[in-house]
Amino acid sequence: MVNFDQQAIQQAFDLAASVQGTTSPNPPVGAVVIRAGQVVGFGATQPPGGPHAERVALAMAGADACGADLYVTLEPCTFQGRTPACTDAIIAAGIARVYFVFRDGDPRMPPHGAQSILTAHGIDVIQIPPPNQSDALTIAPFRWRLQYQRPFVTLKYAMSLDGKIATHTGVSQWISSQQSRHIVHQIRNRVDAIITGSGTAVRDNPQLTVRGITAAHTPWRILIDSHGSTPATARLFDITDAPTLVFTSTAAPESWRNALCQAGVDVHCSSNTPIALPDVLTHLYRLGINHLLIEAGSGLAGVFSDHDCIDEVHAFIAPGFIGNPQAPGPIGGEGLGQLVDWQRFTIIDVQQIASDVYIHACRPSIFAHPHYHTKE
Ligand SMILES: NC(=O)c1ccc[n+]([C@@H]2O[C@H](COP(=O)([O-])OP(=O)(O)OC[C@H]3O[C@@H](n4cnc5c(N)ncnc54)[C@H](OP(=O)(O)O)[C@@H]3O)[C@@H](O)[C@H]2O)c1
Repeated sequence: MVNFDQQAIQQAFDLAASVQGTTSPNPPVGAVVIRAGQVVGFGATQPPGGPHAERVALAMAGADACGADLYVTLEPCTFQGRTPACTDAIIAAGIARVYFVFRDGDPRMPPHGAQSILTAHGIDVIQIPPPNQSDALTIAPFRWRLQYQRPFVTLKYAMSLDGKIATHTGVSQWISSQQSRHIVHQIRNRVDAIITGSGTAVRDNPQLTVRGITAAHTPWRILIDSHGSTPATARLFDITDAPTLVFTSTAAPESWRNALCQAGVDVHCSSNTPIALPDVLTHLYRLGINHLLIEAGSGLAGVFSDHDCIDEVHAFIAPGFIGNPQAPGPIGGEGLGQLVDWQRFTIIDVQQIASDVYIHACRPSIFAHPHYHTKE
């Protein structure tokens, strides 16, 4: 029977959540050092090149780390990357016991992980369960990118009670309440990049920036526009707000592509029309993007769905009808012909936000993956 400090591991997860979106391609991790029942150190992963959570917490604890317990959301790293191995710092600090939750899937980790190194130095290492099921989501984007060579993909949308994200004339601002839209800014703050399609860029001219909250970082904005239909004056192309990456094709006018380049937009031009989603995702994987948020219409969301590339959903459902068969739902694309292999999501949270209902759901496999709970 393992007797561990629930509050300490919860605090470590809160720390990890506070740096989501700022650590990619590294995972957001939290660590807490407890000595004689007191917190003597805590920390979270710093942006790439900076110290990992364990080193931040151990530095704060100083000499008090000797004989103390370390609580960490992810197994400590054992290898020198941009920063030295955390296991070295744990051994040097004289930590007595390490409690960790999720295993690290980095291929540079040895087969038996941190456990064999630390136990060889007389340190007890104990894997414990996460305090909440949803804590797996702090680590999922990092794991997804490593495992599937693509970012973890979250879809957000606001729809009416009859399942429409816009009227048949294309009006969607605003379906959800101001309070729901405030939550969307918190969601944006946790991701590395936000992707939209030409339909939304032309119709809504969105900024896709984090506003109304203290932003931890500035996510990339990504646009798919193979024909160059988005006006060069669009807000997405003002890179003083945030960096923008555009995937376009040779079907777009050369003058349009040049204007974007001159505005400082990162333009990737392909000879494929329409642009192949797997190529986009591979490119984002190579850029080190762990977590991608879709804020688009049914066209682009449908392409992601057809490729089975939606891993998490934030749906805001507003209490009114829009009507008309031409008014779109959240997912277009080819869709399913039958329901035999229908993949259902796992509901993580359902809440009322002002007049809306908010549903947070994700792939069940996020919780089933053996890396999360057991040693392979
Ligand atoms: N309520 C909400 O949450 C919400 C959110 C966003 C938008 N909207 C509404 O949604 C409407 C726009 O929706 P939309 O569907 O027209 O636009 P969209 O999804 O924003 O854009 C369509 C995108 O799909 C891409 N696409 C289509 N077929 C493809 C294929 N086979 N392969 C690769 N890419 C493909 C297009 O690429 P190309 O440009 O390269 O052809 C384009 O980027 C607007 O009325 C907007 O207000 C509502």
